Amino acid sequence: MSTRPRTPAPGTPAPGKLPITELAELKARHQPIVMVTAYDAPSGRLADEAGVDLILVGDSAAMTVLGHDSTVPASMEEMIVLTRAVTRGARRPLVIADMPFGSFQVSDADAVENAIRFVKEAGADAVKLEGAGPSLSRVVSIVGAGIPVMGHIGLTPQSATALGGFKAQGRTAEKAARLVEDAVALEQAGCFAIVLEAVPAPVADEITRRVSVPTIGIGAGGGTDGQVLVWHDLLGLYEGASPRFVKRYADLATSIRDAVADYAEDVRARRFPEEIHTYSMSDDELAAFGAATGELRTGARR
Ligand code: KIV
Repeated sequence: MSTRPRTPAPGTPAPGKLPITELAELKARHQPIVMVTAYDAPSGRLADEAGVDLILVGDSAAMTVLGHDSTVPASMEEMIVLTRAVTRGARRPLVIADMPFGSFQVSDADAVENAIRFVKEAGADAVKLEGAGPSLSRVVSIVGAGIPVMGHIGLTPQSATALGGFKAQGRTAEKAARLVEDAVALEQAGCFAIVLEAVPAPVADEITRRVSVPTIGIGAGGGTDGQVLVWHDLLGLYEGASPRFVKRYADLATSIRDAVADYAEDVRARRFPEEIHTYSMSDDELAAFGAATGELRTGARR
């Protein structure tokens, strides 16, 4: 088990950590940036070993691991626990903590305080927050506190109700132009990267050309500077309805169900545990134990 120390302070990357400045270089070289979500130490470690660049501890955890119907119920306390677990598992990728609904909407001061908690208590390298408009001053304040911020526009699940549901955004010329303005404003506010979720590819392409920071797409076509998928979607662990932009690279839900069913069958048939799963005692100790328990039983009878 790793006892590796975490990032000591913002701006002081842990040894082996991908420098955040490298992301702009990847964009300049047209080298795609790979991001996945993760919610615990094993998934953080596996994502790191698989060579991803960025890990987002998304508030999608509310749906994928906490069983809610939306991302809205995710709390700071839950997100801190999950982020801390991921940072224990991941070494090279930058770990970005998603600021949950309610953690940055109230005031700039609140947003900074919560962002600081992610860095100090959970070892996050950066935070992500949804929206532009009122979120811009939050970005400025958090960046001003020395914490890198990733923006997120398009379909922003925390405001899905206000957006009319989980549906693609920027599909009219007017709305598309507003998304471009929002992306430029987020870059000016200091974001080091921007997630574009569920927007038409030509809109994402235009934003990617217009901003100098990397764009990370999810349902935004192949022209963004990077891509992100949700861990449970990518691995086939989430069996609820999936958006069209999800590609499943495995069917782990089936593998897990089959494995657990095999185990249950073995237990019920007394095929598990076998000899190799069992601890032994030396003959002498066994004889002594037999004598002692025999005496005890005899004693109990008397
Ligand atoms: O919470 C999340 O997983 C996200 C990604 C979909 C970008 O915000």
